[in-house]
Amino acid sequence: MNTDTQTEYITALIDLHSGRDRKGPGDSDFSRHILSHLSTLPLKPRIADLGCGSGAGALLLAQHYQSTVMAVDSSSVFIEELAARAKQLGLEHLIIPIQGDMAQLVWSAGSVDLLWSEGAVYHIEFEQGLNLWRPLIANSGIAVISEISWFIDNAPDPAIAYWQNAYPTMGTEAENIARASRAGFSVLSTHRLPSQA
Ligand SMILES: C[S@@+](CC[C@H](N)C(=O)[O-])C[C@H]1O[C@@H](n2cnc3c(N)ncnc32)[C@H](O)[C@@H]1O
Repeated sequence: MNTDTQTEYITALIDLHSGRDRKGPGDSDFSRHILSHLSTLPLKPRIADLGCGSGAGALLLAQHYQSTVMAVDSSSVFIEELAARAKQLGLEHLIIPIQGDMAQLVWSAGSVDLLWSEGAVYHIEFEQGLNLWRPLIANSGIAVISEISWFIDNAPDPAIAYWQNAYPTMGTEAENIARASRAGFSVLSTHRLPSQA
């Protein structure tokens, strides 16, 4: 994509998703299910939601842990929506909305206990995102990251052709597990999002 096409694409995506509480695949009940199975985190975990949109994850995490969430998104429109929603829900003291690039975080190593990212890491490519984010995670910290993956090895040609153009590095579940291991993660579990998500 050239720069003009990319700008038009991003503007169209922002228009399409403005005003929606969730801006990608995900499901709040399923997120709570995942949280209920995570190993114990510090009482007030340091949380980051990367590519947070208007806060589908960040607001749920703030409510769940009653702890501060650094919520990063490159779109000022979405960050403003997040700030407004946090206020509406009485969570503004727990949400730190940050307009910025999740690929350029200058946070200290080991400064995040729970790194969360839903439907966003593909923007910077899964493996690159994992490599950039791994150092931020504290000892015994946890990352919960969703990534589009092939469920089968022999997808139909039109699907392969589409994704070859849209996201050439899209991997199978096994490939993505291998990428996470290479980036220094121990993969605790993987889940497929429920179809309604
Ligand atoms: C599919 S949306 C998901 C948003 C949110 N996690 C949700 O589930 O509602 C992907 C988000 O990633 C953000 N994004 C894309 N590239 C980014 C970057 N380099 N840094 C920060 N955010 C980015 C987009 O603005 C968008 O809000």
